[in-house]
Amino acid sequence: MEYLKTTEVKDLTRNYIMNTYRRAGISLVKGSGARVWDAEGKEYLDFLSGISVCGLGHCHPKIVAAIQEQAGKLMHCSNLYHIQSQACLAQALLEGSPFDKAFFCNSGTEANEAAIKLARKYAKVKHGVTRSVIVTALKSFHGRTLGSLTATGQMEYHKDFGPLLSGFKYVPFNDIPAIEQAVTPETAAVLLEPIQGEGGVHVPDKDYFGRVREICDKVGAILIMDEVQTGMGRTGKMFAFEHFGIEPDAITLAKSLGGGFPIGALLAKDDIAQVFSPGTHATTFGGNPLACTAALAVLNTMDNEGILEHVATASRALFGGLEKLKAECPHIAEIRGLGLMVGIEVQDLQNLCTEPPAKLISLGCLNKGLLVNAVTNTTVRLLPPLIVGESEIKEALDIVGQVLNETF
Ligand SMILES: Cc1ncc(COP(=O)(O)O)c(C=O)c1O
Repeated sequence: MEYLKTTEVKDLTRNYIMNTYRRAGISLVKGSGARVWDAEGKEYLDFLSGISVCGLGHCHPKIVAAIQEQAGKLMHCSNLYHIQSQACLAQALLEGSPFDKAFFCNSGTEANEAAIKLARKYAKVKHGVTRSVIVTALKSFHGRTLGSLTATGQMEYHKDFGPLLSGFKYVPFNDIPAIEQAVTPETAAVLLEPIQGEGGVHVPDKDYFGRVREICDKVGAILIMDEVQTGMGRTGKMFAFEHFGIEPDAITLAKSLGGGFPIGALLAKDDIAQVFSPGTHATTFGGNPLACTAALAVLNTMDNEGILEHVATASRALFGGLEKLKAECPHIAEIRGLGLMVGIEVQDLQNLCTEPPAKLISLGCLNKGLLVNAVTNTTVRLLPPLIVGESEIKEALDIVGQVLNETF
């Protein structure tokens, strides 16, 4: 296929696409493993993985083959019928997990919408009164549709879209007294990311979720964890809640579940899942044969290729290298994260930057062929594919080091 030049794509985008994204000035056309190429043939090391979507790297041959084969058989058939790959995917995700039932959709925001509806219906069925409050965290991110947007504790995203849903309360993340006060007998659910991603890669204290679990249990509220960004091995465990020694009642997944193909999921314990009955929740595309085949291929490949073990090794190399950079560079204030979900907190000590430092660093990296992103003005986020190699980590660290030197 002939590729349009980046300038041509830029013009088309400006003319025809709604202006909802600040896009970097490159047009990506090809990917393989941890690398992508733009329309002019420039190569980039992708340390963002499409924001944690291409967990197994770009165009993993097993995923490509599974999608190609299924596309020639049956892409879609509606949830009015049984779907083999959907049933097998649910079994593969649930067996060995604390959850019993799955609902499939197409994205993270939809998975959270499903979770909010499930929590409210469960509270109603279980407690027999309207008990609708959902407690979420400030700086959280749960999606852009109105329910998930209301759950998102970043008020700048709410602006101009009101009225939003009623019955949401926000607490500072990793603050036990605050959540203890907020969770009451009116609370249907607490919805939290195990590690806040879009909010700046914040890992809570080791005992935080243990206390949150107790607080929920005390009043009979359910605990839902949004694993859309952290799930599917990103933090070195299949699901990030496993780091905290607790079991949530439900989790939401999306992003890397399909290895690049859109799919979302809500997994829940049986007594909660049971409140959904035919007609209570649905989606046209969710759980279709093509998406579920892609996700099954992701799970099989993770298993066959020992991906979780590899993440542990790669994570040690990445954090080790970043800590070394930090020791040499006073402009790195902190390295945060778990597994291959990393935030570099930078500080502009001499006030030299004309723009937010994280933005300048991410742009500097892009110019040198490394894709990362700025999640806040001062946090640069790295989400390399889980298959990233040691030499690629070294290459990325060299670029980050050079860019830090040139920026400050
Ligand atoms: C934790 C979390 N939840 C939900 C979402 C929304 O997912 P989607 O963009 O697939 O709707 C995101 C997206 O970044 C996320 O990071």
